[in-house]
Amino acid sequence: MIADIADEQAQKLADELGNKAVYVRTDVLDDDSVEATLAKADELGTLRYAVIAHGGIGVLEKVVNRDGTPHSRKGFTDTISLYLTGTYNVLRLAAAKIAKLEPKPNGERGAIVMTSSIAGFEGQMGQSAYSAAKAGVIGLTLTGARDLSSVGIRLNSIAPGTMRTPLLELIGEEGSRSSPRTSRSEAPRHTRRVRVPCPASAGELVHQRRGRATRRGAAVPDSLTREL
Ligand SMILES: NC(=O)c1ccc[n+]([C@@H]2O[C@H](COP(=O)([O-])OP(=O)(O)OC[C@H]3O[C@@H](n4cnc5c(N)ncnc54)[C@H](O)[C@@H]3O)[C@@H](O)[C@H]2O)c1
Repeated sequence: MIADIADEQAQKLADELGNKAVYVRTDVLDDDSVEATLAKADELGTLRYAVIAHGGIGVLEKVVNRDGTPHSRKGFTDTISLYLTGTYNVLRLAAAKIAKLEPKPNGERGAIVMTSSIAGFEGQMGQSAYSAAKAGVIGLTLTGARDLSSVGIRLNSIAPGTMRTPLLELIGEEGSRSSPRTSRSEAPRHTRRVRVPCPASAGELVHQRRGRATRRGAAVPDSLTREL
């Protein structure tokens, strides 16, 4: 199931993927919308896995701008709202749904992957709101994984480097540098496939930079069976 608000592109993707793919309009900031999508997923099958990877706004302002004005509070809160609160919203609602499933023999009920960014570690000038939101996702990963271990749900995150997507076009060259050595023109059109740790680990963050994947964060030991 593809959940998005970009009807045309998302429907096109679902069509390309074939008759097993379904697009359902979903606004991550709207509880009713997310819950309706989760209910639809239940109708179609068993929802065990969710990937949270929305994006869309790119506010580029310095904490104090060149003209002396402070970063707009709205720009900051809108960015945190979409990237962090929206992520948490889908996480909590999807996890509550998955937690009601019968566990598999190994105790696992499902898994959720969230999307952070290299900017959560080292954002560039003008990316303070985005970096704060993405660092929030990093902070959420291990703690959320610990919370969810008692209901058999693994939680991990990826922190990609720069990829050429519509979002990147929106924020432009200055905001797109994933490091002083990587410019937008060097950004790959597609990320390499990163293997998200499975099936036994949770709380890990796969950090992708310049084609290399490294992991940060501790796995949650014996997490799927241990009550916290
Ligand atoms: N592109 C990069 O270089 C890069 C690098 C690191 C991390 N990321 C992260 O990867 C994720 C995807 O980014 P992208 O570059 O593919 O962006 P994108 O803009 O190409 O795609 C984001 C999608 O999210 C959807 N969306 C926006 N608001 C939504 C909402 N309220 N509810 C549901 N869907 C909504 C958009 O319609 C769009 O289809 C983001 O979280 C982004 O921060 C991107």
